This record gives sequence, structure tokens and C-alpha cells, in this order.
Amino acid sequence: MRHQFVLADREDPHPDLLIEKGRQGNGVGDWVPAMKHMYLAKWIEGTREMRKRFPDRVLVDLFCGPGRIQVEGETRTRLGGAQIAWLHSQLDDTAPFTKCVTSDIDQARSDACAQRLRALGAPVEPLCGAAADVVDRAALLVPPTALCLAYLDPYSLEFLSWDVITRLAQLKHVDFAVHFSTSDLRRNVKMDFEREGKRFDKVAPGWRKEIDVQSFFRGDADDEFFDYWCRQIESLGFTISQRFPLIRTKKNAPLYHLVFFSRHASPVRVWGDVAQGVNRELPF
Ligand SMILES: C[S@@+](CC[C@H](N)C(=O)[O-])C[C@H]1O[C@@H](n2cnc3c(N)ncnc32)[C@H](O)[C@@H]1O
Repeated sequence: MRHQFVLADREDPHPDLLIEKGRQGNGVGDWVPAMKHMYLAKWIEGTREMRKRFPDRVLVDLFCGPGRIQVEGETRTRLGGAQIAWLHSQLDDTAPFTKCVTSDIDQARSDACAQRLRALGAPVEPLCGAAADVVDRAALLVPPTALCLAYLDPYSLEFLSWDVITRLAQLKHVDFAVHFSTSDLRRNVKMDFEREGKRFDKVAPGWRKEIDVQSFFRGDADDEFFDYWCRQIESLGFTISQRFPLIRTKKNAPLYHLVFFSRHASPVRVWGDVAQGVNRELPF
């Protein structure tokens, strides 16, 4: 039987702590709860049966933010991504995450996220630092046989370091939900190519040699870069869901791709179901 999917919502247990208000500080886009957090929540619920088979189930969130968001134009605040992931994992108490490894480059944000998770009863292991610097410690906190979801949600593409993905990819059972900032790429890829800027070298090492120079004239160099990045992910043995929703601004400019990949078919299939659209209701 299909039921109306409702995104978790709770009072803020720590209203005195920091709130995520986006890069400009005037609130995050309404697509954050409506798409990014909604897909994450639906995927977590849709994969509950798979998670039950693993005694250890770990969320790794290396760009965790403060654990509370405010949407532009709203006065209320809402749960952050890690809190959404935790609450939807433990809804019927059969396959909750057994550990939430969270981290942010900003100490106050990392602390706030951990406090808000603890208030929800989550078993949290907070770290602090640039994702590329903490990823090894984070990976070591994941038991070798655990099922792990790596949720990577940087504002800027340049922080989606390839080293972070390859280190987490060494985990035996790991799925990735990644926020890939297309707008950064669109704005800067041509300039970086011409001036030998380093902004994207850590994201997709070797991209300069692979990109078709004609794409800068055609205006689709960002697509070429994204395709190259996808091929690199596939070379690690992952299958990328063909559903990578493109989130656009109100003026229709591309902002982000939400990309999901796994080495197993079932989690990819579930992502394909959930990422079809915000109105699609699933039978779980
Ligand atoms: C989009 S916000 C995170 C929102 C959160 N994941 C959610 O869903 O509610 C991005 C976060 O990444 C942090 N950040 C920026 N650069 C970073 C880096 N190199 N390593 C780790 N965190 C970083 C920022 O401080 C910010 O809190």
C-alpha cells in the first residue's frame, strides 16, 4: 500500500546554536528540503531491508553543517541532512544507523550538528576539519563489514576531492549520495582551463587531457567534465544511477546534480525510483 511520504520534522533542541542559511546567508533554497533531503530520506527508507542484513550501519557525512537549516523566506527552521538521515533510518527501529560519523571544516558547525544528533538519540562520532584531511579518520571509524552511506554535500565543487571519494571507496560496502555543484563548473571551468587554475584538479585529476577543447566553444565543457568525473567513478567499480536530478535556480540556471552510486544494483534501483520526482510516492 502506498502512503504519503512525510519528511521528518522536529523542534530544534538547540535553538541557540548555528543554523545553515546557505552561502549568501539569506536562507537555503526550498529545493534543499523538497529534493535533496527528500530523496535522501526516501532512499534511506527504501533501503531498510538491505540495511537489516548488516549488524553495523554507518552514515558518513563529511560536510555536515550545523544540523539545522533555514529556507529562504521562512522564519521557522528545519532538520539538517544528517538529522534527516538518522531519523528516517530509525523510524521503525529495525535498521537504524549504528554510527553517524559527522564532520565539518568549521568547529562550531561540527559541534552543533553533533549536539543536535545526540538530542535525537543518535550514536555520533564527530570530527572536525577539511573533508580531505579527516577522511582517513572517518573511514577508520567504519567497521570493515559495515554497510556505509557516504553523504557528501559541499557548497563548492572544488571541495569534492577525489581523494575523499577514493578513500571511502576502499570500504567494502559503501554507497554514495553526492551533491555535485554544476554552477561552479559552468562559471569557472573555461577560465581554469585557459589559466591552468587548480580549482578542479583535485575533483577529477587528469580532466584537462580528457576534455574536448571544442566543448569550450560549444558551451558544454561542464557536461564534458561531469561525464569524465562519472567515468572515473565507474572505473572504481561503481554504477552511477542514471537519475541524477539537476536542481536549477528560479531563473532556470543549473545549480547541482544529485548523484548516487553504488557497487550493487539494488541501492541504485531504489535511488532511480526515489529520484524520479518529488511527487512520486513509494510503496514502503
Ligand atoms: C551545504 S552545507 C552542508 C549542509 C548539510 N549537509 C545538510 O544537508 O544540512 C556545506 C558545509 O560544508 C562545510 N565545508 C566547506 N568546505 C569544507 C571542506 N573542505 N571540508 C569539510 N567541510 C566543508 C561548510 O562549513 C558547510 O557547513
